Amino acid sequence: MEYQPIGVFDSGFGGLTVLREIEQALPQYDFLYLGDNARAPYGTRSFETVYAYTLEAVEWLFNRGCCLIILACNTASAKALRTIQQKDLPLIAPDRRVLGVIRPVTELIGTITKSRHVGVLATAGTVASQSYVIEIAKQFPDITVVQEACPMWVPLLENNELEGAGADYFVKQHIDRILAADSRIDTLVLGCTHYTLFEPKIRRYITDDISLISQGTIVAKSLEDYLRRHPEIAERCTRQGKRDFYTSETTDFFERLAPLFYGRQIRCRQRTGDFPH
Ligand code: DGL
Repeated sequence: MEYQPIGVFDSGFGGLTVLREIEQALPQYDFLYLGDNARAPYGTRSFETVYAYTLEAVEWLFNRGCCLIILACNTASAKALRTIQQKDLPLIAPDRRVLGVIRPVTELIGTITKSRHVGVLATAGTVASQSYVIEIAKQFPDITVVQEACPMWVPLLENNELEGAGADYFVKQHIDRILAADSRIDTLVLGCTHYTLFEPKIRRYITDDISLISQGTIVAKSLEDYLRRHPEIAERCTRQGKRDFYTSETTDFFERLAPLFYGRQIRCRQRTGDFPH
């Protein structure tokens, strides 16, 4: 059988936090990870740019055999997923699927919040897209959503500053702001796949009655459900427990920082030249 891994895509390292959880749930499947580190962060880029970069990544992963791709990036899910699903897939790969990370979280939110006031911490791009606000309103119109863009959080992580004093400063700044904007928030969504690393720090600045929602385990569960409901896709995904990692940056850079997000060392390859910079 032709090698058909499940593709996992992020602008950089954040998707590794999602892949880590998906692997726990579905260890037998093959996974091919692509981080577009050379062009990260996506969070400050325009719709057009994020869409163009994400579509390139999707096509690249299709060309390497993936018939199912997870956009393990909120910014790409917010700005590119719908267009890719509705406009591009029917033309370029009608029998393949691309899924995002926002919907699995918004579907659950109504069962978590009691106060019906939810805060979303995300990149500037995800906040501007209003994707969380729109998706939650569709499913739970009684919930009030307050968003806060945290533009420093991804650069802090990607510069290995998680433990520095700067990280504490910017975590506190955004938590204080979102809770000041709505003091009834009882649920905070970490709407960027990088942010789960800040969880211990965020907990220092919130009370115990506030739930903190990270996406990894939720996306993993949702993918398990998806594969169960779509045997025609599941059957095509190969299962030899293989992992392949690609980056658009140098392999040194990726291999140095990846363990922070993935929890262990990896070997990666540089994406080949059919992918413009
Ligand atoms: N990890 C991405 C997300 O979930 C964003 C990081 C970036 O700005 O590139 O939104």
